[in-house]
Amino acid sequence: MLWPQVIDEVAPIPVLAAGGIGNGRQMAAALAMGAAGVWTGSLWLAVEEAAASPAQIDSYMKATSRDTVRSRSWTGKPCRMLRNDWTEAWDRADSPDTLGMPLQMMAVREAMVRSNRYPEKSQAVAFNPVGQIVGTMNKVKRSADVLLGMVEECVEAIERGNSFLEVE
Ligand SMILES: Cc1cc2nc3c(=O)[nH]c(=O)nc-3n(C[C@H](O)[C@H](O)[C@H](O)COP(=O)(O)O)c2cc1C
Repeated sequence: MLWPQVIDEVAPIPVLAAGGIGNGRQMAAALAMGAAGVWTGSLWLAVEEAAASPAQIDSYMKATSRDTVRSRSWTGKPCRMLRNDWTEAWDRADSPDTLGMPLQMMAVREAMVRSNRYPEKSQAVAFNPVGQIVGTMNKVKRSADVLLGMVEECVEAIERGNSFLEVE
């Protein structure tokens, strides 16, 4: 975890820790390492207010942390997403190399438009970007409840840490 190095390097500029943060214990860990706060992304892909289709949300709900892969097959840059027939096909030894950004996206744009239009039929080849915390995204909740749950768990984790300092 390189957060402490980054935080020391840019001090006193405040740093938000990001990447793989999906619960309050991870948030507490980031704060303990000196982060001023946390920045989350994947967590919000499958909340009640998310713009994702029901089929895509279902894919996120079913996925484990082992079901993601870093692939250049949509954007041309490495991006973590759910592994499916599309990512496997681009990974095959006899498949062409991906193009750079933005050429790859231009090449596959039509596939993206069509899979977005028919999400319930296209999950096997759809672009489902998400981090490894997808394995802990198992229930569609309201954003407010996700946030509240995180803060409560963070407080509990900090209190547990404080309890190590108590002397009898
Ligand atoms: C669907 C999606 C799209 C994103 N798009 C961008 C982007 O265009 N530019 C960028 O710098 N980061 C982008 N991010 C990264 C997030 O801002 C954030 O740093 C990252 O998701 C944090 O890691 P986490 O997903 O494990 O919480 C994106 C993340 C997701 C999940």
